[in-house]
Amino acid sequence: MIDTPHHQANPALEKLKIWSSYNKSKYLSIKYDSYFLVYEELLEKYVGKPITFVEVGVLNGGSLFMWRDFFGAEARIIGVDLNPLAKKWEKDGFEIFIGSQSDPEFWDDFFRQVGPVDILLDDGGHTNPQQILTTIAAIEHINNGGLLIVEDVHTSYFRDFGNPSKYSFINFAKRVVDSINSRFPSVNDVKNAYGKKVFSVSFYESIVAFKIDSTKCFECKPTSNNGESSGAVDLRDKGTVRGVLSSKFGFLKKLPFKDFVSAAVFGFMAKMNSRKLKNLFN
Ligand SMILES: C[S@@+](CC[C@H](N)C(=O)[O-])C[C@H]1O[C@@H](n2cnc3c(N)ncnc32)[C@H](O)[C@@H]1O
Repeated sequence: MIDTPHHQANPALEKLKIWSSYNKSKYLSIKYDSYFLVYEELLEKYVGKPITFVEVGVLNGGSLFMWRDFFGAEARIIGVDLNPLAKKWEKDGFEIFIGSQSDPEFWDDFFRQVGPVDILLDDGGHTNPQQILTTIAAIEHINNGGLLIVEDVHTSYFRDFGNPSKYSFINFAKRVVDSINSRFPSVNDVKNAYGKKVFSVSFYESIVAFKIDSTKCFECKPTSNNGESSGAVDLRDKGTVRGVLSSKFGFLKKLPFKDFVSAAVFGFMAKMNSRKLKNLFN
């Protein structure tokens, strides 16, 4: 018997379809109340569609029934768990795969059998390697327009999960943000594969969602609507050191060693600014 606190429902949840599906489920599921707002925001558009949805972490089966009620009969609902007893939910029409989410070979085999999926939600073991390896394995196999949702990411701040660490899941997710920004031509920070598949990353309390769409992941180019110009001047650098440097020493940009010069000059300015900025990072 699990001792679950039975709080009064937060009024913000009362009208949510997913909250009603959760409460209707015959089998136990334990989720934090704030998650339902996130689920509704991210998942409502898939309701009634013939999607393939995967949840890592089955436990008592309660969330499988919640997802079926929420998405509707057209959805293919798949559960993944370490515990072979989870197989019992197959009799209720769910597909169940037994294996470890931190085993890349398990995922290779999984996607070979299942094919591409629309949404994968990770509610498994919540350690850094589990969350990171699941993300890496899944991103390639999520259809455009789909989602990868990792929950309980507060473990990235928990000591008993080996954190804080440079290699926490939350820091991994920030690297994906760097990769997305590297689609901008002159940003060369992380030109890795994530920026080619992940259109955006949303950070919520305890949840990170990656929106997958390779068709939206292109290198940006400047455009113009060819409208009439009124000759307005961009004043962003007026009166700043940066402005003076650009206007007086603009010729430096033409020199062969321009990258070195601008890195030195603007790097020095950034250092000066960082003293002021530090106070804003409390
Ligand atoms: C938080 S529970 C899942 C709860 C369920 N989603 C719900 O809402 O009712 C976590 C589950 O993840 C499973 N799990 C833990 N580590 C795992 C791993 N490495 N691979 C797959 N499943 C794992 C556990 O066996 C457990 O059933």
